[in-house]
Amino acid sequence: MQIIKKIDELRPIIKQWHREGLSVGLVPTMGYLHEGHKSLIDRAVAENDRVVVSDFVNPTQFGPNEDFESYPRDLGADAALCEAAGADIIFNPEADEMYDNALTFVDMNKITKVLCGKTRPIHFSGVCTVVSKLFNIVTPDKAYFGQKDAQQLCVIRKMVKDLNFDIEIVGCPIIREADGLAKSSRNTYLSADERKAALCLSRSLETGKKMIENGELSAAKVVDTIKAEIEKEPLAKIDYVEMVDLNNLETLETVQKPLLCAMAVYIGKTRLIDNFILE
Ligand code: PAJ
Repeated sequence: MQIIKKIDELRPIIKQWHREGLSVGLVPTMGYLHEGHKSLIDRAVAENDRVVVSDFVNPTQFGPNEDFESYPRDLGADAALCEAAGADIIFNPEADEMYDNALTFVDMNKITKVLCGKTRPIHFSGVCTVVSKLFNIVTPDKAYFGQKDAQQLCVIRKMVKDLNFDIEIVGCPIIREADGLAKSSRNTYLSADERKAALCLSRSLETGKKMIENGELSAAKVVDTIKAEIEKEPLAKIDYVEMVDLNNLETLETVQKPLLCAMAVYIGKTRLIDNFILE
């Protein structure tokens, strides 16, 4: 496995793969890889002849008061995980290599303005821009994204359709710790008490899911029950809990599939997200 930092070094390798008729999978990440990322890499390795994992903490998707500087980084551990999983290349550019005085950005309306987009107004423009660039640099046949970031997955699917990228987007299920907490690079910020408190996300989502399974039809009742359960936890502060139509991310009044029930909750200073989808 190779670690490549320059676009001009990566391109000829990928061109050669395409000439040989080999299929290429891309797994975009910001590094500090865990089992969640690994599940995407495993799937990419199973479904493609060659796999590129991008490992780039993308500055344009962080707001001015967010955690860009402190975001955890460990290229050595990432390389070991990728090598063991059977990836062929880690693409790990510097910010200047990706954004050389760039003036062009990819923006999207509507579905980037709701849910996480309300608190993080520039986030999805940064995500769409960097993912477009990665698509153009790596020219993959398939690209892999986690349902953990469900809104991001919707946004990427829409961007691929709107901009006619000839790339299949593969969505992969959420990988969780044994006690239910969704795996995240940001879990490393949590103190022992916060780690316990963070269970209120997955626990309250389970409660909401059960209500729907038992026939509850009012979306507001499900959302309110979830919120009440989170509010019992003193270290938790809700950013949002919403139930939306999975097709357009518009708020639902009545429980109707396909739906996305998504939340962002601050545990101390750490903002965590989680969700469930019913299709
Ligand atoms: P990052 O947070 O590193 O996540 C990379 C990919 O791993 C995303 O598709 C995310 O949904 C997936 N992932 C993270 N935790 C997961 C879990 N517990 N189970 C399943 N999949 C999980 O998302 C980003 O980076 C960036 O926004 C990126 C797309 C790379 C653009 O910069």
